Amino acid sequence: MMYLSRLWGAVPLRLFFIGISAVAILMLYSGVSAMVMSSRVANRVAEHVSTMLACGRSVVAAHQDLINDASKGDKGFTPAYVKKEMRAEFEKRVGLKLEDMEHQARETLQELMDAAEDVVRDQQDNINRLGVGFKGFIPAVFGRLTGMKFRYATGVSVRQVTYEPRNAYNRADAFEREMLKGYENGRFKPHLGYGWWTDDHTYRYIYPLYIEEACLQCHGQPAGALDIAGKPKEGYKQGDLRGAISVLIRTD
Ligand code: HEC
Repeated sequence: MMYLSRLWGAVPLRLFFIGISAVAILMLYSGVSAMVMSSRVANRVAEHVSTMLACGRSVVAAHQDLINDASKGDKGFTPAYVKKEMRAEFEKRVGLKLEDMEHQARETLQELMDAAEDVVRDQQDNINRLGVGFKGFIPAVFGRLTGMKFRYATGVSVRQVTYEPRNAYNRADAFEREMLKGYENGRFKPHLGYGWWTDDHTYRYIYPLYIEEACLQCHGQPAGALDIAGKPKEGYKQGDLRGAISVLIRTD
């Protein structure tokens, strides 16, 4: 007993236990579930997660005029519809059926589609509002909200990042800024995703996003002019690197 209490009195040991408890409490309260990803599949899962989020963004973009239609109430842009379209787009892009995929990849993608479904459910009243045109429901907002819910459910992080974000949640960290630079200085090929193990248990994947014609009304020129939401445009030109989808997976 004497020995134990003397050991407990040792500062490093005390710090160790306090640390462990703090981590346990944080995990409990942050709701990060114990979905333990195998390092064997992390690279594939990261790539698929980034593709699935990009597909969701495309589905929202393809229906932007409908969503912004002030003359229509019920738009049929339902949670189930979005989930189905997202899945179809994903299966088309990767040339694989979800049910034929390895189970960890399938389950993770299912969680991402569920998160998207929840986001569209939360937004139904907003989306179906009569008499309002622009409702602020755009691909980037859909992507951020979906990523947040998905991370809460799985512990896997997927964000749309850039140097000077409109929304602080999207601010690139040091690693992501380095990777964005890699696309700008030609170290990486454009339009291709890259992944790295940053340590034995962390896999990170980056997929670049470029300015297309449809982005210019909000992110285009002249810099400082106001977009449809009354926010200043950044002054990008078509083809500019706007940012990236960034996935971070912790593995066993
Ligand atoms: C209707 C205006 C609008 C259009 C069109 C638009 N964006 Fe955005 N974009 C925004 C807003 C608003 C945000 C901040 C979203 C948030 O709250 O997370 C944003 C955020 C982003 C972000 C995250 C970084 C940041 O600045 O917060 C990326 C990346 C992005 N947009 C890329 C694109 C691309 C690529 C396109 C075209 C395919 C596009 N956007 C079209 C308004 C727009």
